[in-house]
Amino acid sequence: MFEYLVPRQPDAIIALMQQCKADTNPDKIDLGVGVYKDDAGGTTILRAVKAAEQQLWNTETTKSYVGIRGNDDFRHSMLDLILGGDAGKISTDLMDRIASAQAAGGSGALRLGAELIKSAAPDATVWVSTPTWANHIPLISSAGLKMGKYPYYNRETLGVDFEDMVAHLSAKAKAGDVVLVHGCCHNPSGADLSPAQWDQLADFFVEKDLLPYVDLAYFGLGRGMSEDSYGLRKLVEICPEVMIAASCSKNFALYKERVGLIAVVCQDTDTAVIARSQLGSIQRKIISMPPDHGAKLVADILGDQKLRAMWVDELTEMRERMRDLRKQLSEALNVQGGETIAAAVKDQNGMFSTLPLSVDQARKLRSDFSIYMTDSGRINIAGANNRNIPRLAEAILSVL
Ligand code: LMR
Repeated sequence: MFEYLVPRQPDAIIALMQQCKADTNPDKIDLGVGVYKDDAGGTTILRAVKAAEQQLWNTETTKSYVGIRGNDDFRHSMLDLILGGDAGKISTDLMDRIASAQAAGGSGALRLGAELIKSAAPDATVWVSTPTWANHIPLISSAGLKMGKYPYYNRETLGVDFEDMVAHLSAKAKAGDVVLVHGCCHNPSGADLSPAQWDQLADFFVEKDLLPYVDLAYFGLGRGMSEDSYGLRKLVEICPEVMIAASCSKNFALYKERVGLIAVVCQDTDTAVIARSQLGSIQRKIISMPPDHGAKLVADILGDQKLRAMWVDELTEMRERMRDLRKQLSEALNVQGGETIAAAVKDQNGMFSTLPLSVDQARKLRSDFSIYMTDSGRINIAGANNRNIPRLAEAILSVL
């Protein structure tokens, strides 16, 4: 039967990873896949993760399955972390209204959520920003859901077209539709909503009966933990129902361990009980049982004062390094003709910015300078360092 299959192209990010790996130029600059790199270009294991692994090695006695919705400590400590704000803890009332499940990475969480939407409201459309992460549409539409797009990033001003976003959703989305928003560090643009815009959006979702689905893949890597969860917390405060797909790939650097959480804030506790049973049964159908190792490490780190403090320091270090790289690149680009890009690169959040380059310009940077970014002009700022920034800025300005 397999002779009838046709070859499939990898998506833009995976293809770029392969191309960059094959480039033998020792001075290549990899601004492709969203993986944090330190000053030496490495993606090392966090010290808190190593310490938790060591502890686990000494104490773990079984590799038997965790429950179908995963480790309770992981789910609860993650919910406290992302929804608890400065207090770091949510109320029992809110916890009781949440159905959650440990997932195979943020992508696994997005997919579990998409399947839940499909079960609850098969005719709902899921709206995503233009642009959005390359895998959002394939991941969510393969659950059988309809997808729509709303305007978001303006490639001229390099900011968010908030009024267009709201006007478009107001005109096109129907009550009961789902709107996927990036909780912070928008991928691929780095352009986030302001607190005032989040406030307005929360009221708009309630007024139009739209369900927010928050992708929280870069929590802690934008402006700070409290700042990065402002929008999510506002939605949970104002909207009766909210879905969240959180990832620990980047902020715990646990990429290949595949650690994610799907959480559904329901209107009441009875609905949450039903949603929990649904999430469990969907998980069972797709992967049966979630992987445990990475989630157990996160639970142990968040549950131990010393390990947690160590992790917070490392997260802060990653975030501050990226802010510093943004500042350096911005200064190097701040010449005649580069002012808008310079300002955007400095102010945007997280790993990514999308530069206003054409496909040809992005490809020229690849072929002539061994500088790897997606065809859309997305750069991962963590791939830069203070040694290559002058060359990077010069190359970008030369193709503009
Ligand atoms: C990215 O956007 O580069 C990351 O989220 C990695 C991926 O899987 O695409």
